[in-house]
Amino acid sequence: MKILVIGSGGREHALAWKLRQSPRVDKLYCAPGSAGIRQQAEPVDIAAGEIEKLADFAAREAVDLTVVGPEQPLVHGIADLFDSRGLKVFGPNREAARLEGSKAFAKELMLENGIPTAACEVFSDLEEARRYVGRDQPCVVKADGLAAGKGVILCSGKAEAEAALDAVMGRKVFGAAGDRVVIEELLIGEEASFMALMDGEDFLPLASSQDHKRIFDGDKGPNTGGMGAYSPAPVVDAAVHEAVVEQVLKPLAAGLRRRGLRYRGVLYVGLMITEDGPRVLEFNCRFGDPECQPIMMRLKSDLPSLLMATAEGRLRGMTAEWSHQTAVCVVLASAGYPGEVQTGMEISGLDALDSWSDGYAFHAGTKRQGGRWLTGGGRVLGVTALGDTIEEATREAYDGVSRISWEGMHYRQDIARRAMERG
Ligand code: AMP
Ligand code: GLY
Repeated sequence: MKILVIGSGGREHALAWKLRQSPRVDKLYCAPGSAGIRQQAEPVDIAAGEIEKLADFAAREAVDLTVVGPEQPLVHGIADLFDSRGLKVFGPNREAARLEGSKAFAKELMLENGIPTAACEVFSDLEEARRYVGRDQPCVVKADGLAAGKGVILCSGKAEAEAALDAVMGRKVFGAAGDRVVIEELLIGEEASFMALMDGEDFLPLASSQDHKRIFDGDKGPNTGGMGAYSPAPVVDAAVHEAVVEQVLKPLAAGLRRRGLRYRGVLYVGLMITEDGPRVLEFNCRFGDPECQPIMMRLKSDLPSLLMATAEGRLRGMTAEWSHQTAVCVVLASAGYPGEVQTGMEISGLDALDSWSDGYAFHAGTKRQGGRWLTGGGRVLGVTALGDTIEEATREAYDGVSRISWEGMHYRQDIARRAMERG
């Protein structure tokens, strides 16, 4: 089987790492890939956004399956283009990808299908929105559109909400995404990530995980793409799992079908586990990153078989087998992330990790130059390890971290602490 992975981050490296372990995969490409992914897949010099060129490549090389990592190509219709050319693709089409691309659309589907989520209102008019927050309740102001998680502002009451509305709708600090805002009830609880493969008819839940969104220990500082993750997430116990399947995945799959939307790919459900049960915070139309890294490390089933079955609408009756061990991923970031970062710092200790038997360092943003590894982005590495307990996996992951360094390297010291406190 020939597989093309699209993307270049830690998520795509983890996918390539797992795909490479399958005896079914003869040839693995990654576009554009990265110096790190080169260890598993042949890089292809086409950017993730150049969807016509990617389709030409897949046709020319007779690629059997293209796996789309990031959301942008999906939101721009890569699955529609591949379909129209008879090329198999893992990822929802443009209309279905609006579940991630438009927060208002996601809310509409949740309400239409009785999926538990925060109460909300949508506004296109600044004055109307200001009147609404005049009730002075804790709330969340969200710009409608892709703003890389940045378009979300938590407000304790009226004054903060008004300031947020003025910035988003008035001054358009997130650009056109601020033409429409969603104002939500502020939910209290613990967050978890729940992903499922969906093939248009059936779905297959994957292992649970938990991300660490804030930059600093103790969940302080600005939101990031994710500073670390572990799987499974103890907060997703059997009752929560069942509630997500019954109250979220089943009605959503049925609702998508009713609207004639074809969703073939992975659905990421961002959850708040409240005292009253799980509530959906957001949907993404792709694997979470870094969550994908610990999840791939725990997956025992053949990944290409699962992804191909998803793309071909054959998920019914399939199962996924998981290691009983826990996996923990610690993200190493450049100084300044999630703001402006300086790249090109020399990374030491990385090659020595090749002999590390308990884990793997997935590359999120590295460059190779003259035999040296350099930093090449905000999130640089996802150091991921398995252990029999969450404590052991965490110890292993930080042991890996301790062998790597560069000037300005920053990481959270408290990854998985919450899971350990649950004990
Ligand atoms: P989103 O991009 O909508 O998932 O929001 C980003 C982050 O903002 C989430 O991961 C939560 O930490 C937080 N958040 C979003 N919506 C809510 C809400 N209704 N209540 C509490 N926190 C929220
Ligand atoms: N780590 C959260 C996300 O991928 O959206």
